[in-house]
Amino acid sequence: MNKVKLLAMTSVIALASGVTAAQADKLTFYCSAQEDWCQLMARSFEEASGIDVNMTRKSSGETFAQIRAEATNPKGDVWWGGTGDPHLQAAEEDLTEPYESPMRGELHDWAISQAESAGNKTIGIYSGALGYGYNTELLASNNLPEPSCWKDLLKPEYKGHVQMANPNSSGTAYTTLASMVQIFGEEDGFEFMKGLHANINQYTKSGSAPIKAAGRGETTIGIVFMHDAVKQAVSGFPVKVVAPCEGTGYEIGSMSIIKGARNMEEAKKFYDWALSVDAQNLALQVKAYQVQSNTGAESSESAPDMSTIKLIDYDFKKYGSSAERKRLLQKWDEEVSTLPQ
Ligand code: G6P
Repeated sequence: MNKVKLLAMTSVIALASGVTAAQADKLTFYCSAQEDWCQLMARSFEEASGIDVNMTRKSSGETFAQIRAEATNPKGDVWWGGTGDPHLQAAEEDLTEPYESPMRGELHDWAISQAESAGNKTIGIYSGALGYGYNTELLASNNLPEPSCWKDLLKPEYKGHVQMANPNSSGTAYTTLASMVQIFGEEDGFEFMKGLHANINQYTKSGSAPIKAAGRGETTIGIVFMHDAVKQAVSGFPVKVVAPCEGTGYEIGSMSIIKGARNMEEAKKFYDWALSVDAQNLALQVKAYQVQSNTGAESSESAPDMSTIKLIDYDFKKYGSSAERKRLLQKWDEEVSTLPQ
């Protein structure tokens, strides 16, 4: 190769790497928590790091499907928030990248267990218990009894009054399905879902939509994480929060770095920052009342008190496994969603 050619090639390489460096200060952020929290996280990270953030909010199941569809040409860098089950499934399907953050020492054990069960391809960022909420004014004006258990929701007088999300798109609704199977056993759990189907007025895409609708008076009861119902009550809507009498499931909201991320360094910077006290304290600004994974993060008196809620020993390993999640969703599609209402 002559000198001129070599020089030309070197400058092309320099130019190319220069372009890469200039473009590197950005992050494509897939978010599956509440929209306002996602926005606040994106803007606050931009301020803290100087990195431009492009954020998209989609539900947990939807984001998982998108990451899988993009696996040969990944477009996202980091996936923050949403229920842990699809994050675990992504880890098992090798769609996410192992990472051991220097922040791990500041976290609760449950956040680290989530990481360890997935070869460090995900980590716990918050936890919250499942339940439901109802609009007290609509309940009274319709002369409906006050529900306090899961089984209460099957009463024929609630027909058309209950809303939940679709478990295919929503992690909240998948947690509901998996919790009913764990509380009542598989057969009775599916019988419960079939009975519930008869009372459902709409399956929404996003998990928290049903309680926002209840707050606005568009449905009476919404099955959601209890902290989402608390947010409506604290915001002034006539919503009462229920921790069901039989006991309930819970989520370990998670974060994962996408395998083959184009902006890997930025993804790791975001990951470390998202585990810090400062970042986790942002939650309260948007009334996100999950328990944060950093032991130093603030909590609010309004937040559901996890120690007083009867929690089941949710089997994340089983219900976050690829085969089980696929099987349960397929069974729900075939045996529940097709039933007449
Ligand atoms: C809400 C909850 C989160 C949960 C998320 C799951 O935003 O506050 O705690 O992780 O729903 O969303 P999805 O739409 O997948 O049910």
